[in-house]
Amino acid sequence: MIIAIDGPSGVGKSSIAKAISKKLNIYHLDTGAMYRTLAYKLKKDNIEFSKELLKDFDFQIKDNKFYLDNEDITDKIRENDISILASNISKIKEVREFMVELQRKISNNKDVVLDGRDIATVVFPNADIKLYIDASAEIRAKRRFLELNETISFDKILEDIKNRDYQDMTREIAPLVKADDAILVDTSNMSLEEVIKKIIDIIEGEQ
Ligand code: C5P
Repeated sequence: MIIAIDGPSGVGKSSIAKAISKKLNIYHLDTGAMYRTLAYKLKKDNIEFSKELLKDFDFQIKDNKFYLDNEDITDKIRENDISILASNISKIKEVREFMVELQRKISNNKDVVLDGRDIATVVFPNADIKLYIDASAEIRAKRRFLELNETISFDKILEDIKNRDYQDMTREIAPLVKADDAILVDTSNMSLEEVIKKIIDIIEGEQ
């Protein structure tokens, strides 16, 4: 079984996917973390992207932790500058092709829930369940602001979210778009628990 979850930045896709993976006891692949890991590599080594880099891109996932060259980078890839850098490099054709192939390979012969931007449209257009999670930019920014304990201003968070939405929705290759046959879940007025319950109901209803 393949469950595809797409949606914009900060909408809670990863938390939702994680909860579903626990509940249904299936594998979770956070595809955004893969783009983030490549972005982190560029930042750490202070280099520009080149195709050669992909040849020895050593990305591993173990027990919900992400590793680059055996270094645990789970927390480091969540930093703000990595978010926009990941969005910048995700426009590159070779990067997308590489990531999509790796995502299919990791998911092979597994029941899996994947979250990202192009899962239902490109990676698994024949997924069993397709969900598009949405909420207004203001609501996503407010949630993030509360999560960060006011360490970054609300206006800065909102600006970053809007920039990333714009980049991800207007890029030439695999832009973020709701697949025609994806079920839209607008979480603007829902708690995370309510969203998870609704999605589990949808999945059970479809089976
Ligand atoms: O989901 P997350 O915010 O961690 O993703 C970071 C960035 O990676 C996104 O802003 C997007 O540009 C890119 N991405 C993508 N395709 C995916 C997942 C993430 O282009 N399937």
